[in-house]
Amino acid sequence: MVSKSDIETENSATHNDFFRETLRPSTDASALLRVLDGLGRLPADFDAAVLLPLIHHCNDKVRLSVAKNMGKTKDLRALHLLCELVFTEKNTLVRREMVSAIGRARNPEALSTLYKLLEDEDAKVVLQAIRGLLCFKRDPAVIQCLSTLKEHPNELIRSVLQKELQPKRSEKGREATEVGSPDWLKNVLVNADVFEALKSVPDDSVHLTFTSPPYYNARDYTIYKSYDDYLAFLVKVFAEVHRITKEGRFFVLNTSPVLIPRMGRNHSSTRYLIPFDIHPLITKIGFDFIDDIVWVKPEPSAKNRNGGFFQHRKPLGYKANSVCEYVLVYRKKTDKLLDWNIRQYAEETIEASKVKGEYPKSNAWKIAPASSAVHSAIFPKELASRVIEFYSYKGDLVFDPFAGSGTVGQTALSLERHYLLTEQDPQYAAHAHKTLHAGSLYCEHPPTMFSLEQFAERAKSERAL
Ligand SMILES: C[S@@+](CC[C@H](N)C(=O)[O-])C[C@H]1O[C@@H](n2cnc3c(N)ncnc32)[C@H](O)[C@@H]1O
Repeated sequence: MVSKSDIETENSATHNDFFRETLRPSTDASALLRVLDGLGRLPADFDAAVLLPLIHHCNDKVRLSVAKNMGKTKDLRALHLLCELVFTEKNTLVRREMVSAIGRARNPEALSTLYKLLEDEDAKVVLQAIRGLLCFKRDPAVIQCLSTLKEHPNELIRSVLQKELQPKRSEKGREATEVGSPDWLKNVLVNADVFEALKSVPDDSVHLTFTSPPYYNARDYTIYKSYDDYLAFLVKVFAEVHRITKEGRFFVLNTSPVLIPRMGRNHSSTRYLIPFDIHPLITKIGFDFIDDIVWVKPEPSAKNRNGGFFQHRKPLGYKANSVCEYVLVYRKKTDKLLDWNIRQYAEETIEASKVKGEYPKSNAWKIAPASSAVHSAIFPKELASRVIEFYSYKGDLVFDPFAGSGTVGQTALSLERHYLLTEQDPQYAAHAHKTLHAGSLYCEHPPTMFSLEQFAERAKSERAL
């Protein structure tokens, strides 16, 4: 039996005889695969002729591996064969691999095949063909052809082309202006309706937003005319959050389904799946979905909905106790990779902000809920800490539009970030300000609370400078 080290030895020594022997079409598929999958980087004088008959092999896995290896050669016979067979290959994975191999050849002879593949039904094939064509980006004919796909029905294809075809902006000038936040917004709490307050906040000011919006009629501090009105209110606020968020930075939203209890024995209760209903509206605003973290609370902290079922055990009557809330993570749409955001920081800031020690590796975060005599729905500090540590750097500005008792502000301060908070309830705002003030003795930007008018006035004077 041929071992992996035999293959490596033969491979590096370029013993084409060895490959002619071990890659005969009559050899059984598993032996062929052992050799093909072990090929790795091909030596310069590898004779691709051994691969050619195998691309017709009846075993899909063999054809897949052959296509992969053909993509590593510059052999024209392999390229021509791939260009011919890609239109008749029945196996989806093999076809995609063939397109990738054709693209990897970076040979103008493949252009007409790649053009034809842009019309393929399989979006992945089209994406591979685009990738291949982008190697010829300097050719205006290629760019013109790719431009015809700008309105393609597939969102991934549209987004790749939007990024690739837009004129390149100079990154140098942009980086300088985009790191910091205006000083006058640092450690500020505005006691006002969020939407009114945000009218004074400039575009691209905050690095991270973490919030838990008011519940839909589930607590006494909020009353909305209808569920649609409630969602429309959130969308209006989150569109503003989008505007004031810096390019490529995060918006983390904590929500959970709410239950409106039944009117009486002849009625059913209604459950609203807020996280799922709000999600498509948030992506429409211009946030990309990044992660769905589930905050799991200990079972005794959940309201017991099992009383009836526990007794009667009749199917259909089962009700689960809700121990989960969602922590949905979004990123303001950008064509830049995360590295672009990270590169904007000084080396010392990156080093100082690194997340040390243990951290949750899965999207199930087990955290006990917190309670307060002042506010009925506060964030546990642990939840706020994780979000702020994972999605911001030291010195950043963290925003909470629905600040309540100010947990996000307190946590931001303790992690050497700054906060910007809005809270409409005067009692909650006063309590939050008092706590923030007490926790920030040596702060460069001392905690300040503004009314709406004071905040608007401050913004006006800043604009006048
Ligand atoms: C779920 S609580 C947030 C609690 C907060 N995460 C904490 O740790 O204390 C939602 C808060 O949003 C506030 N709120 C509701 N509507 C608002 C609005 N239009 N503008 C500003 N705050 C609002 C409520 O008064 C409430 O304190």
